[in-house]
Amino acid sequence: MYTEICTDEAKNALYSLIEREVKTNPYKNYDGFLIDVKRVANELPEQTSSMFKTIRNSIDNDKEQVFLIRNCPIDKDLPELGNEDPVNVKRATKKTFVGEALLALYSICCDMPILSYTTRNEGDFFQDVKAMDKYNLTQTQKTNGALNWHNDRTAHPVRADYLMLLGLRVPEQNRIETHYIDAKKVISQLPNHHIYELNRNSFYTPYDDFSRDSNANQQNSEPHSIIYEGDKLRYYDDRTNILNPSVEKSKEALENLKKVINESQVDIKEIQESDLFIFPNLKGLHARQLAGIQDFAAQSERWLLKTYNFESSRVANRYSYLYTEKFGQVNDDCLTV
Ligand SMILES: [Fe+2]
Repeated sequence: MYTEICTDEAKNALYSLIEREVKTNPYKNYDGFLIDVKRVANELPEQTSSMFKTIRNSIDNDKEQVFLIRNCPIDKDLPELGNEDPVNVKRATKKTFVGEALLALYSICCDMPILSYTTRNEGDFFQDVKAMDKYNLTQTQKTNGALNWHNDRTAHPVRADYLMLLGLRVPEQNRIETHYIDAKKVISQLPNHHIYELNRNSFYTPYDDFSRDSNANQQNSEPHSIIYEGDKLRYYDDRTNILNPSVEKSKEALENLKKVINESQVDIKEIQESDLFIFPNLKGLHARQLAGIQDFAAQSERWLLKTYNFESSRVANRYSYLYTEKFGQVNDDCLTV
């Protein structure tokens, strides 16, 4: 994992720039907000611009793919979101957009365009990993519980290459771990005949409860392979399953994959406030582990701001036929699989 700690000087300089330039609400006027953020990009502190170059080079040259940037600027005054309808409370009460600007800045300067979906949080480009009572103990971004090994949006035909998570509010009394494993390492542990089976379109993944509630068309994925393009996985543990339960070879390969994942070497990270964690969504799997919960109510207050990101503009352009007038916003109202 590439780790860098922003100096207080760089953090404060970036905060002041964002505070000065970014006034437009991204939930109301995303294009105007991006114009504000681009002004910030013209005056970056040196440490920040060199970090952007490091990340881009590392991705391009297939070096380190997991990045932890600590001591990032975030909003000083954050509203209480509650657990009934946090997204709408956020839209109504969040008056500064430092976290959003920081994520947008990374996406612009590292050339990792943000992806959104018209049927997920109404097309918002900034998502919240934040508990919502309705989804307690489900396998969704709105759960307050643990999450199995997975890629985000496993069932969806358009999936992010990378995820960015920014710690906005992280109660210190609880230990919540983000686990990550590299897909190449998992695949290298599998025998060839299992790799062959896992490359076949013999599997499917049901959509999660939040997706199903947001779009009645989203029930099950199309038949898909679990391994694709050599080093990518499409898998949600305990949800991805075989299409035809009588095919023993697929069943055996899936069972062995599960075993290999559980025996893999895991990177463990506790995302703290002001931490930005960037990691591959497809060239790896991630999970959430509740390692030590002292205060369950505080656990529901945990709030990470998140974006789905493409690897580059070149990759994002492949899906442009699916976008609304906003680049990166997939119109999946009518998209059936
Ligand atoms: Fe996830």
